[in-house]
Amino acid sequence: MTISPLPIAERISRLGTETAFAVSAEAAEWQALGHAVYPFHLGDMDLATPENIVEASFKALRDGKNGYCPNAGVAALREALAADISASHSLDLGPQNVVIEPGGKPVIGKFMLALMNPGDEVLYPSPGYPIYESQIEFHGGVALPYGYVEGRENFELDFTALDAQVSPRTRILIFNNLQNPTGAESSPAELERLAELALRHDLAVLCDEAYWDIRYSGASKSLASLPGMAERSVILYTFSKKFAMTGWRLGAAVGPAAIVEVIAKLNVNDESCSNHFVQYGALEGLTGDQSGPQEIIRILRERRDTCVGLLNQIPGVSCFTPAATFYLFPRVTELMERKGLSTYDELRRAALEETGVSFCTRLHFGRALPGEKERYVRFAYSGIPVPLIEEGLGRLKAWAEA
Ligand SMILES: Cc1ncc(COP(=O)(O)O)c(C=O)c1O
Repeated sequence: MTISPLPIAERISRLGTETAFAVSAEAAEWQALGHAVYPFHLGDMDLATPENIVEASFKALRDGKNGYCPNAGVAALREALAADISASHSLDLGPQNVVIEPGGKPVIGKFMLALMNPGDEVLYPSPGYPIYESQIEFHGGVALPYGYVEGRENFELDFTALDAQVSPRTRILIFNNLQNPTGAESSPAELERLAELALRHDLAVLCDEAYWDIRYSGASKSLASLPGMAERSVILYTFSKKFAMTGWRLGAAVGPAAIVEVIAKLNVNDESCSNHFVQYGALEGLTGDQSGPQEIIRILRERRDTCVGLLNQIPGVSCFTPAATFYLFPRVTELMERKGLSTYDELRRAALEETGVSFCTRLHFGRALPGEKERYVRFAYSGIPVPLIEEGLGRLKAWAEA
């Protein structure tokens, strides 16, 4: 029987997606044909969740934590996360400032629903996590991208673009410090300048700190910690990266109690509550033995060093060494010229088919901005062990040299 398709609601035309998932599908297809694939496209992790977290979750299930829990999350977890973020951010937070979510990602849409009216302008990074643009436009906002430029040691915020975009209709700033995909990290001076901009224009701020703990040296700093910022900021927190829990789906929104209450009400309407027993695993993660996350960082650091070293040996490729995140954003303009490739898709397909190396490009993280000349790709090393990094990047180098 042929069923006539039902008309899809108009709003869905404004909903974006993560085009990086298409890269995964292509890589899987190529692999299914019998080819070796080196997966640098994945923002996912191939590392195990620390055993104490797994055990605590099992125990919670056995102890009967299989029913609904409060919409804003298990009280002990809200308390522990408030204490954790108070300490790391020099803030004075309590459980009323924390609402537990099924991952960090849902915080983005719920933040928009809570704080953005149709027609409001929202500043967001491009290249950046594609869900920002999707959720802004889906909920009727006006998306204003700002970019990053190459500095001496890493990417830096393009304040010229930011200042040019902001207008009296701008209401919201989305800021991802320890940034996906560039690995950028704002200096104290950049954070001060951003805070000044947010205060001057009376902006609400989403501080996406998904990679806060994925750091190899130095200490993470938050825009929300600057004077006058906590009252206008919501921090996106996630258990996904630090504890290798991407598929467990647990995160939180941390901010002013009035906004947290609104987000908890959205939870009532959406998923009722986040996975109950998983929250006891997360509680163990925050308060228990820390050797698991330390080992995750040790492994990631070794991968980062291997990756950066080998990428910089490839002719036409130039890569910074970010102190945080598990992403690299090498410049490949010269490589593309060398190989006579004019589009990102040509580069990606050629690399996959001739070397097996799979990665995302700048365009998977938003539209190119006016005046953007250099070409970049994103290498994630969270899902590929050192021997495969060496093998894959060895092949890429030989191809570049040929
Ligand atoms: C910048 C950024 N924010 C938020 C998330 C959401 O992660 P999750 O929903 O797994 O917590 C991700 C995931 O890759 C990310 O890269």
